[in-house]
Amino acid sequence: MTAGPEEQSGLTALARGLSAPKGFVDASLAAPAPGAISLLGGIPAPVALPVEAIGRASEQLWQDPDAAVAGLQYAPARGSAALCDWIARWEGVDPSRIVVTNGGMHGLSLAVLTVVERGATVAVDDPVFPGFLWALEMSTTRTLPVPVLADGFDVEHLARRLAGGTRIAAAYTVPDFHNPAQVSLSASKRQALIELAERYGFYVIVDNPYRELRFGGQDQGVAAFHGSDRAIHVNTFTKTLGPGWRVGWLVLPEHLVAPVIRLRNRLDVHTSSVTQAVIERLLTDDVLWFDQVVRNATALYRERAGALIDALHEQLPGAFDIVAPEGGLFLWPRLTDDAVDPAALFRRAAAHGVLYQPGEFFAADPRQRSSARHLRFSYSDRTPDELREAVRRLALAF
Ligand SMILES: Cc1ncc(COP(=O)(O)O)c(C=O)c1O
Repeated sequence: MTAGPEEQSGLTALARGLSAPKGFVDASLAAPAPGAISLLGGIPAPVALPVEAIGRASEQLWQDPDAAVAGLQYAPARGSAALCDWIARWEGVDPSRIVVTNGGMHGLSLAVLTVVERGATVAVDDPVFPGFLWALEMSTTRTLPVPVLADGFDVEHLARRLAGGTRIAAAYTVPDFHNPAQVSLSASKRQALIELAERYGFYVIVDNPYRELRFGGQDQGVAAFHGSDRAIHVNTFTKTLGPGWRVGWLVLPEHLVAPVIRLRNRLDVHTSSVTQAVIERLLTDDVLWFDQVVRNATALYRERAGALIDALHEQLPGAFDIVAPEGGLFLWPRLTDDAVDPAALFRRAAAHGVLYQPGEFFAADPRQRSSARHLRFSYSDRTPDELREAVRRLALAF
């Protein structure tokens, strides 16, 4: 819904310029029709969320008067010391480079507002996580779409554009288990992207919310990013501990810490003290706890990805090109038959009670048609039986 002229009057240019959410946000949060199976998600499986441990930690917090009072007072703008220390150890960087955020989107917004000048051009993944384009609107709508290949962001493509004179303020990519394209950026391309950033003087906004969720393949590492003054690494507890916490973090180059904090002093002051206190307790009381949460989740997601792929092969043989994911929450199969109209398939699938995100939704360049040949299935919060049933319904839609 777009605002009418009366609602627009009195708004700042920034507020007027923000696009209304489409599809993803509305469709993901709307209750699906009764009986429909939703593969829209991108959210953790309910059984992967450590509810009991969280309950215990919260109770302990309120039984400890000093901790409870600390949880009700202001916290440092960059985050509580113990939480920053834990995150710094997890990332392998100095704690002075950590800023605790209110989730990944907040981290992306802070990054955009800090390093993207109004009207500047930003290179973005294509297909792209649309949430980043929304954050980017606070500074610019000028993007340079860069194809995402089997080994991630096409660094060579960007290098050619830069050599041809294009200038960018930042490059945005999801390096591990891309949303939506499920691939990871190879180690050599991580290094090459950072070398380009250092040579041409732009920032790399590294959005990495799925990094922890590996269940196959080789870790391509984040040392190239953490070792550079040109990378802003954005992560979140959303995919491991749940989106409802709204807690994430930034790994910043030293020189960006003070500017990001000055910005946040004017926005939200700091992430909720009580929320940080509970998470900090969970992470530090038992040093192996978070690893165990991640291990349980990845075992579950490996099984679910496998069940979905097997069902697609069995019930729709040859209908899709499928690459088995090595982690994350998404499958991004490509329709093999050009005669299949993805828009019609999407409508028929919904009529048969299965919902997914059409690939077109993620195209960064509207002229680019390749994303439209893909479907994004989120398998994380559906059981294997539900996934098999979803594919049965999809086969009917075919
Ligand atoms: C690529 C990517 N970045 C950022 C986010 C936002 O994370 P958060 O919910 O912590 O704001 C998401 C959430 O789906 C995502 O897929």
